Amino acid sequence: MQELMERIERRSARCGVIGLGYVGLPLALELAKAGFRVTGIDLDERKVQAIRGGTSYIVDVSDEEIAAPVRAGRFSATSDFSVIRDLDTINICVPTPLRKTKDPDLTYVVSAVNEIKQHLRRGQLIILESTTYPGTTEEVVRPALEASGLEVGRDFALAFSPERIDPGNARFNTRNIPKVVGGVTPSCTQVAKRLYEASVDTVVPVSSTQVAEMVKLLENTFRSVNIGLVNEIALMCSSLKIDVWEVIEAAKTKPFGFMAFYPGPGLGGHCIPIDPFYLSWKAKMNGFDARFIELAGAINESMPRFVVERITDALNEHRKSVRGSRVHVLGVAYKAGVNDIRESPSLIVMKILAEKGAVLSYTDPYVPSVREEGFVLDSVPLDGGVPEGADCVVILTAHPGVDYEAIVRRAPLIVDTRNALRGCTAPHVKRL
Ligand SMILES: NC(=O)c1ccc[n+]([C@@H]2O[C@H](COP(=O)([O-])OP(=O)(O)OC[C@H]3O[C@@H](n4cnc5c(N)ncnc54)[C@H](O)[C@@H]3O)[C@@H](O)[C@H]2O)c1
Repeated sequence: MQELMERIERRSARCGVIGLGYVGLPLALELAKAGFRVTGIDLDERKVQAIRGGTSYIVDVSDEEIAAPVRAGRFSATSDFSVIRDLDTINICVPTPLRKTKDPDLTYVVSAVNEIKQHLRRGQLIILESTTYPGTTEEVVRPALEASGLEVGRDFALAFSPERIDPGNARFNTRNIPKVVGGVTPSCTQVAKRLYEASVDTVVPVSSTQVAEMVKLLENTFRSVNIGLVNEIALMCSSLKIDVWEVIEAAKTKPFGFMAFYPGPGLGGHCIPIDPFYLSWKAKMNGFDARFIELAGAINESMPRFVVERITDALNEHRKSVRGSRVHVLGVAYKAGVNDIRESPSLIVMKILAEKGAVLSYTDPYVPSVREEGFVLDSVPLDGGVPEGADCVVILTAHPGVDYEAIVRRAPLIVDTRNALRGCTAPHVKRL
């Protein structure tokens, strides 16, 4: 491993990133910026072509950020896994979704690891970054790679380092978010730490891959449980006729012992709704019942139906039924400032509304169209605030740059699940 450390120091190590999505692409660019020659590998030919053409497909990454290293010969993309043999370091950033049964689906990780195994050679460093249950690196990745006949710690290095990127966050990015890293052996940790030190500001080594895996799941379970708690408080406040947003704003003034979380139409994205169930699955395998995770999951998953109930009640006050009403949705991305609709609660709300016979339309400046079972729609521009004839506007994602005042003036009825119309007391505005 000493030789690889030196190659990393000299920036002559060849780096590879498998999976060029929200996590892998920014990481590959950061490594290229640090001075390495980086090869990105993805099964998706469109992504490979986009990179070759210097075009970005991720909101936080500009075309030029890709085009510059491509031009300089420091970044290239391919779907050909045989390049792995020429690489010194390989970060795996492929998806880790859940099956319908809420069991972990490691298909993508296993397939990437099997590709690496075909080309594994002495002196390489493999790092898994995909979020997964504690034990994956030791129990799934290590045996698969060692089936090549090479031994971890002696012939090649293996580590886990959770990715903590927050798409749409203007302040924190791959470079300035501290990177936790745990190797199978102390030398694996050392060499992985050395690689990250070249490309991120702070590296936090931990004693094992299991600790590193668990760190990520603690962080995301913390968010899921706290969002579940505040969603339950919102449901409580609704029945007590108390403004939950005002309560949170006031509670937030406490300078210690409180951290503000906000209610909403439910959880979305590829992390918070999914990752805690990786942990509860693993806990169950060991006879442990992860009660907080299950309860928070149940509350968070009930939120889209609660939103539909709010819409139904609001229309009812106007002597209208959901069936036949024109409901215009603002925001289908799972959170503000991103174009990601994976697991977005907006889609669930829209699906329930469509089933109930509402006539749907939507505006999302980040998402030009949605193709979902039950509805196929294109985003409509918000000229003058609200589409003609809308009976109700539902704010599900509060993207920046929307003229909410015009919406309040023009919409006959508004259900605001994100407190976008902060402080507005107009009677036709209903809040969560
Ligand atoms: N998106 C986030 O905000 C975020 C944050 C932290 C951690 N994570 C974790 O990072 C991992 C990746 O998430 P993402 O959001 O970047 O996913 P993504 O879907 O945006 O990107 C994954 C990429 O991997 C490619 N891929 C799939 N299987 C492959 C294979 N066998 N070989 C090569 N390429 C393959 C896909 O084509 C896709 O381009 C997940 O485990 C996720 O939980 C995501």
